[in-house]
Amino acid sequence: MKALILSGGAGTRLRPLTYTGAKQLVPVANKPILFYVIENIVHAGIRDIGIIIAPETGQEVRDKVGSGERWGVNITYFVQEKPLGLAHAVLVAKDFLRDGPFLMYLGDNLIGSRVDREVREFAEDETLAASIFLKPVANPKAFGVAVVDDGGRVVDLVEKPEHPPSNLALVGIYLFRPLIFEAISNISPSRRGELEITDAISWLIKNGYKVQSHMVESWWLDTGKKDDLLLANDTVMDEWLKTDIRGYVDPDSVVTGRVVIEEGARVEQSTIRGPAIIGSGAHLIKANVGPFTAIGSGVRIVRSTVEHCVIMDNCVIEDIPRLEHSVLGRRVRVKPTVRNQECLSLMVGDDCVVEIAT
Ligand code: DAU
Repeated sequence: MKALILSGGAGTRLRPLTYTGAKQLVPVANKPILFYVIENIVHAGIRDIGIIIAPETGQEVRDKVGSGERWGVNITYFVQEKPLGLAHAVLVAKDFLRDGPFLMYLGDNLIGSRVDREVREFAEDETLAASIFLKPVANPKAFGVAVVDDGGRVVDLVEKPEHPPSNLALVGIYLFRPLIFEAISNISPSRRGELEITDAISWLIKNGYKVQSHMVESWWLDTGKKDDLLLANDTVMDEWLKTDIRGYVDPDSVVTGRVVIEEGARVEQSTIRGPAIIGSGAHLIKANVGPFTAIGSGVRIVRSTVEHCVIMDNCVIEDIPRLEHSVLGRRVRVKPTVRNQECLSLMVGDDCVVEIAT
Protein backbone atom coordinates (compact mmCIF):
# COMPACT_ATOMS: atom_id res chain seq x y z
CA MET A 1 0.00 0.00 0.00
CA LYS A 2 1.06 3.62 -0.58
CA ALA A 3 0.38 6.72 1.49
CA LEU A 4 -0.31 10.34 0.64
CA ILE A 5 0.44 13.07 3.15
CA LEU A 6 -1.14 16.48 2.63
CA SER A 7 1.39 19.10 3.54
CA GLY A 8 0.25 21.96 1.35
CA GLY A 9 -2.44 24.49 2.18
CA ALA A 10 -2.26 28.05 3.41
CA GLY A 11 -2.04 27.52 7.19
CA THR A 12 -3.96 30.65 8.15
CA ARG A 13 -4.94 29.50 11.64
CA LEU A 14 -1.42 29.28 13.01
CA ARG A 15 -0.42 32.75 11.88
CA PRO A 16 1.98 34.40 12.46
CA LEU A 17 4.09 31.20 12.66
CA THR A 18 2.91 30.07 9.25
CA TYR A 19 3.80 33.32 7.45
CA THR A 20 7.35 32.11 7.35
CA GLY A 21 7.00 28.34 7.47
CA ALA A 22 4.81 25.33 6.77
CA LYS A 23 2.33 24.56 9.54
CA GLN A 24 3.15 20.87 9.27
CA LEU A 25 6.72 21.71 10.34
CA VAL A 26 5.69 23.46 13.55
CA PRO A 27 7.49 21.53 16.31
CA VAL A 28 5.80 19.53 19.04
CA ALA A 29 8.35 18.50 21.69
CA ASN A 30 11.02 19.80 19.28
CA LYS A 31 9.93 17.51 16.43
CA PRO A 32 7.92 18.66 13.40
CA ILE A 33 4.31 17.42 13.44
CA LEU A 34 4.95 15.96 9.98
CA PHE A 35 7.60 13.61 11.40
CA TYR A 36 5.04 12.04 13.77
CA VAL A 37 2.77 11.55 10.76
CA ILE A 38 5.54 9.86 8.76
CA GLU A 39 6.45 7.64 11.73
CA ASN A 40 2.87 6.46 12.07
CA ILE A 41 2.70 5.61 8.38
CA VAL A 42 6.04 3.78 8.49
CA HIS A 43 4.87 1.85 11.56
CA ALA A 44 1.90 0.61 9.52
CA GLY A 45 4.37 -0.99 7.10
CA ILE A 46 4.03 1.52 4.25
CA ARG A 47 7.23 2.30 2.34
CA ASP A 48 6.04 4.43 -0.59
CA ILE A 49 4.94 7.87 0.54
CA GLY A 50 3.81 10.83 -1.55
CA ILE A 51 3.79 14.29 0.02
CA ILE A 52 1.67 17.15 -1.32
CA ILE A 53 3.49 20.46 -0.94
CA ALA A 54 2.62 24.09 -1.67
CA PRO A 55 4.86 26.30 -3.86
CA GLU A 56 5.44 28.70 -0.94
CA THR A 57 6.51 26.21 1.74
CA GLY A 58 7.39 23.15 -0.31
CA GLN A 59 11.14 23.69 -0.32
CA GLU A 60 11.24 23.90 3.46
CA VAL A 61 9.32 20.62 3.69
CA ARG A 62 11.71 18.96 1.21
CA ASP A 63 14.74 20.24 3.12
CA LYS A 64 13.49 18.92 6.46
CA VAL A 65 12.08 15.60 5.32
CA GLY A 66 14.44 14.70 2.49
CA SER A 67 14.19 11.52 0.46
CA GLY A 68 12.84 9.40 3.31
CA GLU A 69 16.16 7.64 3.86
CA ARG A 70 16.17 8.24 7.61
CA TRP A 71 12.95 6.20 7.92
CA GLY A 72 13.95 3.68 5.25
CA VAL A 73 11.15 4.79 2.89
CA ASN A 74 10.78 6.40 -0.55
CA ILE A 75 9.27 9.85 -0.57
CA THR A 76 7.94 11.51 -3.72
CA TYR A 77 6.85 15.15 -3.69
CA PHE A 78 3.89 16.62 -5.58
CA VAL A 79 3.44 20.37 -5.88
CA GLN A 80 -0.16 21.55 -5.60
CA GLU A 81 -0.10 25.00 -7.18
CA LYS A 82 -3.07 26.27 -5.17
CA PRO A 83 -4.83 24.94 -2.03
CA LEU A 84 -7.96 23.95 -3.91
CA GLY A 85 -9.07 21.31 -1.43
CA LEU A 86 -8.19 17.90 -0.04
CA ALA A 87 -9.80 16.08 -2.98
CA HIS A 88 -7.91 18.32 -5.39
CA ALA A 89 -4.67 17.32 -3.65
CA VAL A 90 -5.55 13.65 -4.25
CA LEU A 91 -5.99 14.42 -7.96
CA VAL A 92 -2.56 16.04 -8.09
CA ALA A 93 -1.05 12.69 -7.03
CA LYS A 94 -3.35 10.55 -9.20
CA ASP A 95 -0.61 8.89 -11.26
CA PHE A 96 1.18 7.88 -8.07
CA LEU A 97 -1.95 6.50 -6.40
CA ARG A 98 -4.04 5.02 -9.19
CA ASP A 99 -2.78 1.42 -8.95
CA GLY A 100 -4.10 0.32 -5.55
CA PRO A 101 -5.46 1.14 -2.09
CA PHE A 102 -3.81 4.03 -0.24
CA LEU A 103 -3.71 5.78 3.11
CA MET A 104 -4.27 9.52 3.12
CA TYR A 105 -3.07 11.49 6.14
CA LEU A 106 -3.36 15.23 6.81
CA GLY A 107 0.10 16.49 7.68
CA ASP A 108 -1.02 18.64 10.62
CA ASN A 109 -2.90 15.95 12.55
CA LEU A 110 -1.43 14.24 15.56
CA ILE A 111 -3.01 11.16 17.17
CA GLY A 112 -1.84 9.12 20.13
CA SER A 113 -2.39 5.72 18.51
CA ARG A 114 -1.20 3.59 15.61
CA VAL A 115 -3.18 2.82 12.46
CA ASP A 116 -1.62 -0.58 11.64
CA ARG A 117 -4.71 -2.70 12.27
CA GLU A 118 -7.03 -0.45 10.24
CA VAL A 119 -4.56 -0.34 7.33
CA ARG A 120 -4.27 -4.15 7.32
CA GLU A 121 -8.04 -4.69 7.52
CA PHE A 122 -8.68 -2.28 4.68
CA ALA A 123 -6.09 -3.95 2.46
CA GLU A 124 -7.70 -7.36 3.10
CA ASP A 125 -11.38 -6.43 2.77
CA GLU A 126 -12.03 -5.47 -0.83
CA THR A 127 -15.71 -4.78 -0.15
CA LEU A 128 -14.64 -1.54 1.53
CA ALA A 129 -14.55 1.50 -0.78
CA ALA A 130 -13.14 3.72 1.98
CA SER A 131 -12.43 3.81 5.70
CA ILE A 132 -12.38 6.92 7.85
CA PHE A 133 -11.28 7.69 11.39
CA LEU A 134 -13.66 9.45 13.77
CA LYS A 135 -13.54 11.04 17.19
CA PRO A 136 -16.33 12.63 19.28
CA VAL A 137 -15.70 16.37 19.70
CA ALA A 138 -17.35 19.27 21.50
CA ASN A 139 -17.38 21.57 18.43
CA PRO A 140 -18.36 19.42 15.42
CA LYS A 141 -19.19 22.47 13.30
CA ALA A 142 -15.44 22.97 12.76
CA PHE A 143 -14.95 19.55 11.13
CA GLY A 144 -16.30 17.01 8.71
CA VAL A 145 -19.06 15.18 10.62
CA ALA A 146 -20.25 11.58 10.18
CA VAL A 147 -23.30 9.53 11.08
CA VAL A 148 -22.64 5.81 11.52
CA ASP A 149 -24.87 2.76 12.04
CA ASP A 150 -24.47 0.18 14.83
CA GLY A 151 -21.84 -1.72 12.87
CA GLY A 152 -19.73 1.41 12.29
CA ARG A 153 -20.73 1.76 8.63
CA VAL A 154 -20.91 5.40 7.60
CA VAL A 155 -24.41 6.41 6.45
CA ASP A 156 -23.98 10.18 6.16
CA LEU A 157 -21.13 12.64 5.97
CA VAL A 158 -21.08 16.44 5.79
CA GLU A 159 -18.28 19.04 5.84
CA LYS A 160 -18.40 21.73 8.57
CA PRO A 161 -22.20 21.62 8.94
CA GLU A 162 -24.22 24.48 10.38
CA HIS A 163 -26.38 21.89 12.16
CA PRO A 164 -24.15 18.88 12.91
CA PRO A 165 -26.02 15.58 12.67
CA SER A 166 -23.67 14.02 15.28
CA ASN A 167 -20.60 14.88 17.36
CA LEU A 168 -18.34 12.51 15.40
CA ALA A 169 -15.60 14.50 13.69
CA LEU A 170 -13.53 13.23 10.80
CA VAL A 171 -9.97 12.87 11.98
CA GLY A 172 -7.67 13.64 9.05
CA ILE A 173 -6.82 10.01 8.23
CA TYR A 174 -8.52 8.12 5.41
CA LEU A 175 -8.17 4.86 3.48
CA PHE A 176 -9.19 4.77 -0.18
CA ARG A 177 -9.19 2.63 -3.31
CA PRO A 178 -8.77 4.07 -6.82
CA LEU A 179 -12.59 4.31 -6.99
CA ILE A 180 -12.14 7.60 -5.11
CA PHE A 181 -10.99 9.18 -8.39
CA GLU A 182 -14.39 8.44 -9.94
CA ALA A 183 -16.04 9.97 -6.86
CA ILE A 184 -13.91 13.11 -7.13
CA SER A 185 -14.76 13.51 -10.79
CA ASN A 186 -18.42 13.66 -9.75
CA ILE A 187 -18.19 16.48 -7.19
CA SER A 188 -17.99 20.27 -7.53
CA PRO A 189 -16.22 22.88 -5.37
CA SER A 190 -17.89 23.64 -2.05
CA ARG A 191 -19.02 27.02 -0.69
CA ARG A 192 -15.43 27.70 0.40
CA GLY A 193 -14.30 27.02 -3.16
CA GLU A 194 -12.56 23.73 -2.39
CA LEU A 195 -12.96 20.23 -3.75
CA GLU A 196 -13.84 18.51 -0.47
CA ILE A 197 -12.78 14.93 0.19
CA THR A 198 -15.84 14.73 2.46
CA ASP A 199 -18.08 15.28 -0.60
CA ALA A 200 -16.22 12.59 -2.53
CA ILE A 201 -16.76 10.09 0.30
CA SER A 202 -20.42 11.16 0.46
CA TRP A 203 -20.69 10.34 -3.23
CA LEU A 204 -19.41 6.82 -2.49
CA ILE A 205 -22.04 6.38 0.25
CA LYS A 206 -24.89 7.71 -1.91
CA ASN A 207 -23.91 5.34 -4.69
CA GLY A 208 -24.15 2.30 -2.43
CA TYR A 209 -20.45 1.73 -1.75
CA LYS A 210 -19.35 0.63 1.71
CA VAL A 211 -17.52 3.18 3.86
CA GLN A 212 -16.38 1.94 7.25
CA SER A 213 -15.43 4.01 10.29
CA HIS A 214 -12.92 3.50 13.09
CA MET A 215 -13.07 5.34 16.41
CA VAL A 216 -9.83 6.91 17.55
CA GLU A 217 -9.67 5.93 21.21
CA SER A 218 -6.51 7.89 22.00
CA TRP A 219 -6.14 11.66 21.97
CA TRP A 220 -6.27 13.60 18.72
CA LEU A 221 -4.77 17.03 18.36
CA ASP A 222 -5.57 19.19 15.41
CA THR A 223 -2.81 21.70 16.08
CA GLY A 224 -4.71 24.74 14.91
CA LYS A 225 -4.10 27.57 17.33
CA LYS A 226 -1.72 28.59 20.12
CA ASP A 227 -3.55 26.74 22.89
CA ASP A 228 -3.87 23.63 20.72
CA LEU A 229 -0.15 23.75 20.10
CA LEU A 230 0.62 24.07 23.80
CA LEU A 231 -1.77 21.21 24.53
CA ALA A 232 -0.10 19.08 21.85
CA ASN A 233 3.26 19.74 23.50
CA ASP A 234 1.90 18.91 26.96
CA THR A 235 0.38 15.67 25.76
CA VAL A 236 3.34 14.46 23.74
CA MET A 237 5.84 15.32 26.47
CA ASP A 238 3.63 13.83 29.15
CA GLU A 239 3.15 10.54 27.31
CA TRP A 240 6.24 9.98 25.21
CA LEU A 241 9.18 11.89 26.66
CA LYS A 242 11.94 9.75 28.18
CA THR A 243 14.89 11.19 30.07
CA ASP A 244 17.92 11.50 27.82
CA ILE A 245 20.72 13.86 28.77
CA ARG A 246 23.43 14.29 26.15
CA GLY A 247 24.25 17.97 26.59
CA TYR A 248 26.40 19.52 29.32
CA VAL A 249 24.89 20.20 32.75
CA ASP A 250 27.17 21.95 35.23
CA PRO A 251 27.32 20.87 38.91
CA ASP A 252 25.41 23.96 40.03
CA SER A 253 22.32 23.03 38.01
CA VAL A 254 19.35 20.90 39.10
CA VAL A 255 17.48 18.69 36.66
CA THR A 256 14.36 16.85 37.91
CA GLY A 257 11.63 14.79 36.25
CA ARG A 258 11.72 13.58 32.66
CA VAL A 259 14.06 15.86 30.77
CA VAL A 260 15.75 15.63 27.38
CA ILE A 261 18.87 17.72 26.89
CA GLU A 262 20.09 17.35 23.34
CA GLU A 263 23.69 17.12 22.20
CA GLY A 264 25.59 20.41 22.33
CA ALA A 265 23.19 22.11 24.76
CA ARG A 266 24.74 23.79 27.84
CA VAL A 267 22.97 24.23 31.17
CA GLU A 268 24.71 26.41 33.75
CA GLN A 269 23.49 27.42 37.23
CA SER A 270 19.95 26.59 36.12
CA THR A 271 16.96 24.52 37.20
CA ILE A 272 15.01 22.37 34.76
CA ARG A 273 11.81 20.66 35.87
CA GLY A 274 10.43 18.00 33.54
CA PRO A 275 8.74 17.24 31.38
CA ALA A 276 10.96 19.50 29.37
CA ILE A 277 13.19 19.34 26.32
CA ILE A 278 16.22 21.48 25.61
CA GLY A 279 17.32 21.55 21.96
CA SER A 280 20.81 21.12 20.56
CA GLY A 281 23.09 24.10 21.01
CA ALA A 282 20.71 25.82 23.44
CA HIS A 283 22.39 27.73 26.27
CA LEU A 284 20.75 28.22 29.67
CA ILE A 285 22.43 30.46 32.22
CA LYS A 286 20.78 31.11 35.62
CA ALA A 287 17.48 30.02 34.11
CA ASN A 288 14.44 28.18 35.45
CA VAL A 289 12.79 26.10 32.79
CA GLY A 290 9.72 23.85 32.84
CA PRO A 291 7.60 21.97 33.47
CA PHE A 292 5.93 21.38 30.09
CA THR A 293 8.37 23.44 28.11
CA ALA A 294 10.10 22.79 24.80
CA ILE A 295 13.19 24.86 24.06
CA GLY A 296 14.38 24.72 20.45
CA SER A 297 17.91 24.56 19.04
CA GLY A 298 20.25 27.46 19.58
CA VAL A 299 17.98 29.18 22.11
CA ARG A 300 19.64 31.34 24.77
CA ILE A 301 17.90 31.86 28.12
CA VAL A 302 19.63 34.01 30.71
CA ARG A 303 18.38 34.96 34.21
CA SER A 304 14.79 34.12 33.28
CA THR A 305 11.95 31.77 34.21
CA VAL A 306 10.15 30.00 31.37
CA GLU A 307 7.22 27.72 32.16
CA HIS A 308 4.69 25.93 29.93
CA CYS A 309 6.08 27.39 26.71
CA VAL A 310 7.15 26.42 23.23
CA ILE A 311 10.27 28.40 22.38
CA MET A 312 11.39 27.76 18.82
CA ASP A 313 14.91 27.78 17.39
CA ASN A 314 17.38 30.59 18.03
CA CYS A 315 15.22 32.72 20.36
CA VAL A 316 16.88 34.83 23.05
CA ILE A 317 15.22 35.44 26.44
CA GLU A 318 17.14 37.59 28.88
CA ASP A 319 16.25 38.99 32.32
CA ILE A 320 12.57 38.11 32.11
CA PRO A 321 11.18 37.29 35.57
CA ARG A 322 8.48 34.97 34.27
CA LEU A 323 7.30 33.86 30.82
CA GLU A 324 4.32 31.47 30.87
CA HIS A 325 1.87 29.80 28.46
CA SER A 326 3.66 31.29 25.47
CA VAL A 327 4.63 30.23 21.98
CA LEU A 328 7.59 32.05 20.42
CA GLY A 329 8.43 31.54 16.76
CA ARG A 330 12.01 31.34 15.54
CA ARG A 331 14.59 34.04 16.36
CA VAL A 332 12.32 36.00 18.71
CA ARG A 333 14.15 38.16 21.28
CA VAL A 334 12.52 39.01 24.62
CA LYS A 335 14.41 41.32 26.95
CA PRO A 336 13.73 44.27 29.26
CA THR A 337 13.50 47.70 27.76
CA VAL A 338 16.49 49.87 28.55
CA ARG A 339 14.75 53.20 28.01
CA ASN A 340 11.95 53.47 30.50
CA GLN A 341 10.81 50.94 33.12
CA GLU A 342 7.17 51.95 32.60
CA CYS A 343 6.98 51.44 28.88
CA LEU A 344 6.73 48.51 26.51
CA SER A 345 8.95 48.52 23.49
CA LEU A 346 7.80 46.05 20.85
CA MET A 347 8.85 45.00 17.40
CA VAL A 348 6.30 42.34 16.39
CA GLY A 349 5.19 41.10 12.99
CA ASP A 350 1.67 40.78 11.61
CA ASP A 351 -0.96 38.84 13.59
CA CYS A 352 1.14 38.47 16.74
CA VAL A 353 -0.57 38.39 20.13
CA VAL A 354 1.06 40.16 23.08
CA GLU A 355 -0.55 39.69 26.51
CA ILE A 356 0.72 41.96 29.27
CA ALA A 357 0.03 41.97 33.01
CA THR A 358 -1.48 45.36 33.87
O1 DAU B 1 -8.47 18.15 10.84
C1 DAU B 1 -9.54 17.36 10.42
C2 DAU B 1 -10.36 18.09 9.38
O2 DAU B 1 -9.49 18.35 8.26
C3 DAU B 1 -11.58 17.25 8.94
O3 DAU B 1 -12.51 17.10 10.00
C4 DAU B 1 -12.28 17.92 7.77
O4 DAU B 1 -13.32 17.11 7.29
C5 DAU B 1 -11.28 18.15 6.63
O5 DAU B 1 -11.89 18.86 5.55
C6 DAU B 1 -10.09 18.96 7.13
O6 DAU B 1 -10.55 20.26 7.47
P1 DAU B 1 -9.63 21.54 7.66
O7 DAU B 1 -10.41 22.76 7.28
O8 DAU B 1 -9.05 21.50 9.02
O9 DAU B 1 -8.49 21.30 6.60
P2 DAU B 1 -7.27 22.25 6.28
O10 DAU B 1 -7.64 23.25 5.24
O11 DAU B 1 -6.69 22.75 7.57
O12 DAU B 1 -6.23 21.25 5.62
C7 DAU B 1 -5.82 20.07 6.25
C8 DAU B 1 -4.40 19.70 5.79
O13 DAU B 1 -4.32 19.50 4.39
C9 DAU B 1 -3.35 20.75 6.11
O14 DAU B 1 -2.16 20.07 6.52
C10 DAU B 1 -3.11 21.47 4.81
C11 DAU B 1 -3.38 20.40 3.78
N1 DAU B 1 -3.99 20.89 2.52
C12 DAU B 1 -5.18 21.57 2.60
C13 DAU B 1 -5.80 22.02 1.45
C14 DAU B 1 -7.12 22.76 1.52
C15 DAU B 1 -3.38 20.64 1.32
O15 DAU B 1 -2.29 20.03 1.28
N2 DAU B 1 -3.99 21.09 0.18
C16 DAU B 1 -5.17 21.78 0.18
O16 DAU B 1 -5.68 22.16 -0.90
